[in-house]
Amino acid sequence: MIYQVPAHAREGAATPITSLERYRERAARAANDPDAFWLEVTKQRVAWRKSPSVGLEGDFHGIASGPLSWFADGELNVTESCLDRHLEARGDKTAILWEGDEPGQTRRLSYRELHAEVCKTANALAALGLQRGERAILYMGMVPEAAIAMLACARLGAIHSVVFGGFSAEALRERIRDCGAEIVITQDEGLRGGKRIPLKATTEQALEGCPSVRHVLVYKHTGADVPFVEGRDVWWHDVVDSASSSHEAVIVPAEHPLFILYTSGSTGHPKGVVHTSGGYLTYASYTHATVFDLREDDVFACVADVGWITGHSYIVYGPLANGATTLMFESVPTYPDAGRYWEMVERLGITIFYTAPTAIRALQAQGDEFVTRADRSSLRVLGTVGEPINPEAWIWYRDVVGEGRCAVVDTWWQTETGGIAISPIAPATPAKPGSATLPLPGIQASLRSPEGHALFGPARGLLCIDHPWPGQARTLWRDHERFVATYFSMVEGHYFTGDGCRRDEDGYYWITGRVDDVLNVAGHRMGTAEFEAALVSMDAIAEAAIVGYPHTIKGQGVYAYVVLQGEDEIDLTALNATCRTQIGAHARIDRVQVVPGLPKTRSGKVMRRILRKVAEGRGDELGDVSTLADPSVVEAIKGGFEGD
Ligand code: WT7
Repeated sequence: MIYQVPAHAREGAATPITSLERYRERAARAANDPDAFWLEVTKQRVAWRKSPSVGLEGDFHGIASGPLSWFADGELNVTESCLDRHLEARGDKTAILWEGDEPGQTRRLSYRELHAEVCKTANALAALGLQRGERAILYMGMVPEAAIAMLACARLGAIHSVVFGGFSAEALRERIRDCGAEIVITQDEGLRGGKRIPLKATTEQALEGCPSVRHVLVYKHTGADVPFVEGRDVWWHDVVDSASSSHEAVIVPAEHPLFILYTSGSTGHPKGVVHTSGGYLTYASYTHATVFDLREDDVFACVADVGWITGHSYIVYGPLANGATTLMFESVPTYPDAGRYWEMVERLGITIFYTAPTAIRALQAQGDEFVTRADRSSLRVLGTVGEPINPEAWIWYRDVVGEGRCAVVDTWWQTETGGIAISPIAPATPAKPGSATLPLPGIQASLRSPEGHALFGPARGLLCIDHPWPGQARTLWRDHERFVATYFSMVEGHYFTGDGCRRDEDGYYWITGRVDDVLNVAGHRMGTAEFEAALVSMDAIAEAAIVGYPHTIKGQGVYAYVVLQGEDEIDLTALNATCRTQIGAHARIDRVQVVPGLPKTRSGKVMRRILRKVAEGRGDELGDVSTLADPSVVEAIKGGFEGD
């Protein structure tokens, strides 16, 4: 099949970068005149109804007075970039390629079919009363209808917030309440590795005490018998199947919110990160095409979940904006066995594969045979995301999975950055195993001392970004003050990522991990405060502190220190049952140690540094503990260390 040459293949700010020299030239151009660079990129990548004439308005120094904006006078609906504009040249091309829980159970939706489904769903949601600016919570598994629902909300100018299907009823309720959702979209059950996930039943529990929710739209996936409240609940097939497949997209200004995505911070409740329409789409599309060296006939497989930002940017918005074929994978890498990914690569002809280091380490441990028995000759680019990758896993990925032929891109970014920020560009950047390499053109990264001073040349410091970029989060949902305090108070006038980082003599970046109290367990970001709140809600526990420790597969494991009241023993299973109901199935403590007290300063602050050292098995390197209110607890903590 012959397609038109896509607009982004023309020479300009969005021309593919194929050498380090070209990378440097592009990065310099973007840094010298960010507005000109990004305006050029957005005009090539986004189907604007009204083309923007302005780039950035506002800056990091003035962020406290309100969110900054990109392309403010532009108008669009993001689904026109993702769907309508492809109908002519790519109408019959597969947009979504779905692989269900069972191997070989596939569904293909062409751009034409996806467009029709999104229009129908938008009409159905509008009939249920969902309006521009209102919020819809999606609590779904990996079915095409999850992407359809996201796009249908966007088509109406409504704001979606996807909650990962592993979250508990309490976590879901907290998110529904925080954003004041009018509609919840879910499915009867999800499927993962042969297990059924009771999405509707959990939604039912979550809805107790959520008066804002008028309707629950339920997609029937497994056909299980589920609770159903007449009047409030509506079956997807009753209202979507019969709806009209034409729908006029609601045109919104560039800065209209597209979605809210909750993510864990170091303190308090999850933060509702807000991304807006024009800038986010520009960035998702630009990074997807640039980093992975996207070509028209690629089969792009990002095996994340749509409940995380990776799924938003690189399953849905980036690939669809670029007219690509994007995989949605419902299952897990080890079902029915550890060869699932590679068998799927062979069967579906996947050309670009994107996963997390945790999955690579887990599969590497199962032996090469699971990989080598499948034909992987279709693969061209391999990506990783979510956590630092150790060189051993990187090399195994390149040599065993990729047969040494594929480019490997270790992509560093965050929910807040909207898309990849530091990463090799597949055809251009010489890789080093374990390094995310260089900032993409348009990203001005810096390393800083705790006092905020810029560090030059080879250095170790706090990773910051010095200039705004279109894909960045604009604010936290109804809490701009917290947005400023979280990201812009560490170093005034600069975005602070929360990560520590080293830069080598070639200017390559090596992310060393979070420097705040955020954990990264198996590529999932989790707040220590959320775990601690769950634990202290238990009668048996007076106080709790959570830290991470190195874990060979998951990157970080979760280590709990608990101070008991009344009892003298506690069972890990009981702790995890509580974490599961209060946070979700993915929140698991690996080790627990009962301590007589937590190490606190005289002003009552828990000294996590001590707890981290002991959990890492480095209790002998504690240094000065004389500022503690009760230095004797340290000996007890060291003595009770729960190691292997
Ligand atoms: C945190 C962001 C980005 C989508 C998935 C996670 C860590 C992410 C890398 C990488 C080292 C990485 C950082 C970051 N991280 N990618 N390639 N190398 N660390 O998004 O849940 O917002 O977590 O994940 O610590 O701050 P997120």
